[in-house]
Amino acid sequence: MLSNAVKSIHPWVMQTIGRDWVEYIASNTMNVVTQRIDPFLWTYDCKAKIIDIRQETPDTKTFVLLPNQHFKQPLPGQHIEVSVECGEHQKVQESRCYSLSIIDAHTVSITVKRNPEGKVSNWLHERASVGMVLNISSPRGAFVYRGQEKLLFISAGAGITPCFSILNALEATAKKPDIAFYYRSRTPEETIFRAQLEGNQVNSTIDISYSRQVESDDRANVLPNQLMDAYPDLKDRHIYLCGPESFKKEVLTYLESIEYDFDNLEVEHFVRFNHDASETRKLDEDVTVTLKSQNISFVIEAENCGQTILEAAENKGIHLEHGCRSGMCGTCRTNVVSGQVSGNTLGKTIYPCTAYPASTQLVLE
Ligand SMILES: Cc1cc2nc3c(=O)[nH]c(=O)nc-3n(C[C@H](O)[C@H](O)[C@H](O)COP(=O)(O)OP(=O)(O)OC[C@H]3O[C@@H](n4cnc5c(N)ncnc54)[C@H](O)[C@@H]3O)c2cc1C
Ligand code: FES
Repeated sequence: MLSNAVKSIHPWVMQTIGRDWVEYIASNTMNVVTQRIDPFLWTYDCKAKIIDIRQETPDTKTFVLLPNQHFKQPLPGQHIEVSVECGEHQKVQESRCYSLSIIDAHTVSITVKRNPEGKVSNWLHERASVGMVLNISSPRGAFVYRGQEKLLFISAGAGITPCFSILNALEATAKKPDIAFYYRSRTPEETIFRAQLEGNQVNSTIDISYSRQVESDDRANVLPNQLMDAYPDLKDRHIYLCGPESFKKEVLTYLESIEYDFDNLEVEHFVRFNHDASETRKLDEDVTVTLKSQNISFVIEAENCGQTILEAAENKGIHLEHGCRSGMCGTCRTNVVSGQVSGNTLGKTIYPCTAYPASTQLVLE
């Protein structure tokens, strides 16, 4: 009874007192009693309470979350890790990343497309309810706006989420960049945030293209390999790309064919990088890697050239910033200054957690 009353005032507490003060008060009054009365506030863990659930499309829901005081303010485009206990008979803790689709003053939202065979997305769709508290991470990720003046967002399916959050944040700024937003969906019914994109909240050029429906309006059905027709100044625009693997591959192949400068490309990965071992270049000489920003060099012995650059650095006691270790989160991302790398690369951009040395001298930013 007491605990229910305490929990219902969480939105009020966060909005009125503010996270910094809640942190101060909770840490100074932490004990077994307060922790039992309200484990959402009297905790050392980052948690979020579900305060609303909206059905966006038949297979996609948005979960509005009220994070507790341990949550750091996110940048649009970043994601969080959500941990839930799922499994029919034996409860197993599973964690998945979800981009923050909407960021408000006190709440953040994740928009989850249900994977029929998936564990966490199914659990969220079937079991999660308003009032439930989830374990979450603080925001992470490098898929964020970097101040460019001309942008093109290219997304498909659930890949719209980080793009939508950056779009909304930029729409609210006084000196808004020139934004074009291309979104590919199967049908109008499956179009996530369709009302917001088609409504008048957004002043940017929005093009929604449907893969399963031919529209009479030509512009409404631009294929990913016709982007230059729709955006003749595409090469002058910085591209933010996110979507299913097949879609991303199609777009990247197209961008390569028109010689788009990959230095101007930001890509968000929703799945692990799938490394084809046959593509790792076998070197029979040692490799010297120089990290310009840290002003240090280390040697990867020839027999270790099958190690990722991150593993090789760690084996030499050198710390490289990293997160997922699987090419998804973008935390380790850096640029090649000179030399060659195989594995997870995009032009000069590489992901050391899933990239391998491919020349005997390698200089990274
Ligand atoms: C940075 C980032 C941001 C993301 N943002 C979003 C977002 O905004 N919205 C969103 O909907 N998703 C997002 N994702 C994807 C999300 O993290 C999950 O991957 C997705 O929801 C599926 O998780 P799941 O637990 O439901 O499926 P999983 O249980 O992970 O299963 C996924 C697929 O793999 C198959 N599979 C599982 N285990 C095995 C196995 N052992 N062998 C073979 N196949 C297997 C399943 O059959 C299923 O088809 C994001 C991912 C990242 C990395
Ligand atoms: S992309 Fe996550 S650590 Fe490399």
